[in-house]
Amino acid sequence: MPQLCVIPGDGIGLEVIPAATAVLQAAIPHLELIEAEAGWTYFQKHGVSVPEATLTAVRACGAGLFGAVSSPSRKVAGYRSAILTLRQELDLYANIRPVTSWPNVSPRPGIDMIIVRENTEGLYSGRERLENGDPETAVAERVITRRASLRIGRRAREIMQSQGRRKLTIVHKANVLPLTDGLFRDCVREVFDGETAVTIEELLVDVAALKMVAEPERFDVIVTTNLFGDILSDAAAYWGGGLGLAPSLNWGEGCAVAEPVHGSALDIAGQGIANPIAAILSGALLARHVWGLAEAAEAIETAVTRVLSTQPNLQGTTAVATAVIKALP
Ligand code: NAI
Ligand code: MG
Repeated sequence: MPQLCVIPGDGIGLEVIPAATAVLQAAIPHLELIEAEAGWTYFQKHGVSVPEATLTAVRACGAGLFGAVSSPSRKVAGYRSAILTLRQELDLYANIRPVTSWPNVSPRPGIDMIIVRENTEGLYSGRERLENGDPETAVAERVITRRASLRIGRRAREIMQSQGRRKLTIVHKANVLPLTDGLFRDCVREVFDGETAVTIEELLVDVAALKMVAEPERFDVIVTTNLFGDILSDAAAYWGGGLGLAPSLNWGEGCAVAEPVHGSALDIAGQGIANPIAAILSGALLARHVWGLAEAAEAIETAVTRVLSTQPNLQGTTAVATAVIKALP
């Protein structure tokens, strides 16, 4: 029986996650839910953004659904971002972001790509310092390892094999960063060595950004390092209909946490108007990739397609979730 650790977090996370779990429970009746806490509000009360109990619960379930958390934009003593903590503590090394054209909400049809982003190192390794204590020179180190590059390559290959996808774009900047991005590129190529079903191309990240704007339908699977993937996938999310529709999956070995790409959206929190579809589609990613329930994942995606086709102007977190449940095949 699949188990899910539910972590609503802050802001609209508290609204979209219950909506998404209602859909998941309708599509997967034997799903067992366990509630857990994390985030900024939790930190303010308890001095830690992710309690040990939450990590234990996600590990025990093997799957989590995370809403969003608020983060201060300046350093706060003792505060560590909740989602970064989850990614690091659970070694969720792959960030999977599919982008699909949805009826009525996507700016253009025919887009169907998956961005596979390395989620543990690169510029987000957390190695930031002032050079020799000089407050006028700040340095961040960009770490690329063979181990992390090989495993993200393997994850991309696994996704491509399971979904019959045939074109891989390796996005890097090896012309300027030959040691780090050269290593990343070579490792991914090594993983795909002899994989005759897959065509591999390389794009420099700046060219990839241009193509993401100009011809997004050309992409199938993109594999890239942490920062590049972060930026490219938000740009790509535009084509899927924006933040309200963008799902993601942080995926390690035997453990995964799905989350909508959006944040806690404090500007609309508490009003019941947040779009729950990003969270609902994140749940579908758990079904497909983690629980091996491809049929349930497809049922949820079909229901979302039906709702967007027939009621494109439907508003309200609960109303949208209820409509999706009704539209389940
Ligand atoms: P945001 O994603 O929360 O919101 C950006 C804009 O999109 C806002 O105008 C918001 O109203 C709108 N929006 C987002 N999701 C929506 C939805 N489901 N339905 C309708 N409209 C939606 O990003 P923002 O405003 O930069 O950050 C707010 C807080 O969230 C910050 O504290 C930030 O640190 C945090 N954040 C957390 C993330 C996470 O938990 N993974 C990711 C991004 C931001
Ligand atoms: Mg998020």
